[in-house]
Amino acid sequence: MGTKISKAPQISTEHESPFGFDELFFSRTDSRGKITSGNTVFQRVSQFEWDELLEKPHNIIRHPDMPRAVFWLLWDRIRKGLPVGAYVKNRSKDGSYYWVFAIVTPIEDGYLSVRLKPSSALFAGVQQEYRTLLQAEKDVELTPARSAEVLLKRLNELGFRDYEIFMTKALISEMLARDKVLELEPQSPTENYIV
Ligand SMILES: Cc1cc2nc3c(=O)[nH]c(=O)nc-3n(C[C@H](O)[C@H](O)[C@H](O)COP(=O)(O)O)c2cc1C
Repeated sequence: MGTKISKAPQISTEHESPFGFDELFFSRTDSRGKITSGNTVFQRVSQFEWDELLEKPHNIIRHPDMPRAVFWLLWDRIRKGLPVGAYVKNRSKDGSYYWVFAIVTPIEDGYLSVRLKPSSALFAGVQQEYRTLLQAEKDVELTPARSAEVLLKRLNELGFRDYEIFMTKALISEMLARDKVLELEPQSPTENYIV
């Protein structure tokens, strides 16, 4: 007879887990995606204790609203040694959610993710695209790889030549939007940085 393992209830709520536009947070993982370290913002917003986070797979904070395509693209790029930027909705321990724009970079022995709070007009559009894609993943049982193709095709229709262009424009949009909210002198490149 196997031992019963009690799991935390997988609840999700409509409450947002707050963090500031001025806060940046990061986590590091090993090459398989197990969390090896992070900063205090990451720990606070996740609402987990450090001993619940460390050495655990990063999907501990996965939100069910996230289309699988996004994680497929994320891992596809970082396994090739390429950085990736992605909008991610995460779930805190109490079921509340928080959105981030994450930049994940391969580093020695694993990966580093740095995140900021998104607020650009592009982010509003992406939330709608994710909803549509999630529904398609459920309705026609798209594999993550196939769903990633659907996402890339849609981004192409929206004028982004490829994912790299999309993520770079997204990062610049979020940096500019963040400068505005924080009333900082623009520190970021202008929107036309990429043509
Ligand atoms: C450095 C790094 C950071 C990650 N950050 C997150 C994150 O914040 N939220 C998340 O859901 N997945 C994150 N992931 C992806 C997870 O490893 C995983 O692919 C994702 O949660 C999907 O899990 P699933 O395949 O069990 O559905 C991260 C991966 C790496 C390598």
